[in-house]
Amino acid sequence: MNTIDVPAGTEPLRVLAISGSLRADSVNSALLRAAGALGGAAVKLELWDGLAAVPPFSEDDEAEPGAGVSAMLAAFAGADALLFATPEYNRSLPGQLKNALDWASRPYGRSVLTGKAAAVIGASPGNFGGRRAHADLTKVLKACGARVVGDELCVAQAHTALGEDGLPVGEELRTALTGLLAALGEAVRTAGTE
Ligand code: FNR
Repeated sequence: MNTIDVPAGTEPLRVLAISGSLRADSVNSALLRAAGALGGAAVKLELWDGLAAVPPFSEDDEAEPGAGVSAMLAAFAGADALLFATPEYNRSLPGQLKNALDWASRPYGRSVLTGKAAAVIGASPGNFGGRRAHADLTKVLKACGARVVGDELCVAQAHTALGEDGLPVGEELRTALTGLLAALGEAVRTAGTE
């Protein structure tokens, strides 16, 4: 199994994994779990489960956004890095994920996303791996001020990508997932130096 190397005494990278899908059997959520397993001791990956509790964004509610938004902002702030996996809905990212990012983007330029290391996975049972959602989510994260790192990872035929053990059946996907985690680690290590 590929794992991330970590020097002795180094704290694990705290990664908040954010699936754009609310579906119980989501392939995107499953890919994030696989990434967590592949990260081994170098990564402490938490799969965020608060997306459904984020209400529709309104500027009128910004002063008192409510518990769902406050919990999201705390979870984002407490992570070293964010790892997203997004489905593609009608050739873009799902509305619930865009909505959450609209909340998280505020106040513009000083938000919890400003300068935050982030990486993006797109996954679809189709042949294109949700690449239009991947591109749109990357664009939105950059607009929010996040530092998006890592190679593009779009998982086509995603329903066949993981085995019974929840891990990738193919070496290419294992390498790509560990590569994204390594890129996040590198971004966190070098933050403020570039
Ligand atoms: C889809 N799906 C889809 N797939 C795709 O490759 N391109 C697309 O544009 C769309 N559009 C779309 C719209 C809506 C409303 C739904 C519900 C689905 C199929 C989608 O990729 C599939 O349901 C995935 O399994 C969703 O990801 P999760 O939930 O398994 O992570």
